Amino acid sequence: MKNLIDLPHFGDDRGSLVAIESMDTIPFEVKRIYYIFDTKKDVARGFHAHKNLSQFVICVKGQCDFVLDDGERKVIYNLNSAKEGLLIEGVYWREMHNFSEDCVLMVLASEHYNEIDYIKDYQEFLATVRKTKDGKWQ
Ligand code: TYD
Repeated sequence: MKNLIDLPHFGDDRGSLVAIESMDTIPFEVKRIYYIFDTKKDVARGFHAHKNLSQFVICVKGQCDFVLDDGERKVIYNLNSAKEGLLIEGVYWREMHNFSEDCVLMVLASEHYNEIDYIKDYQEFLATVRKTKDGKWQ
């Protein structure tokens, strides 16, 4: 699976730096950035898919489990490194679980926030993913 991308990082005796460039490190133009932090104990988030959105997810601090479901199978990614990111292109159901207290999960997105783009019902997700081959694992 090609979903996890190692990020170019520069480390020296001052510390570390990671750089991400649109249409280079990641294959889309970034229109929106958001991050999730201060998550409460034992909460899970997500539970939706998107009709038309590319995302790149980086756990810049701490760790969490990011579940991607293509309608046929689920893969759980334990995101725990600021030096890698999870690329999501196509129609996938996503869930986030097991956030560490210090977790900061940053998401780069290809589109502005649009409530209409969300699929929040799992059966609707399955119906949608069956209509498109974009949602298949590469
Ligand atoms: P929500 O979709 O519930 O987050 P998650 O994907 O983690 O389950 O979003 C929480 C709130 O933030 C909700 O009121 C919508 C708002 N929001 C924005 O305004 N812009 C955004 O880019 C995102 C992702 C959410």
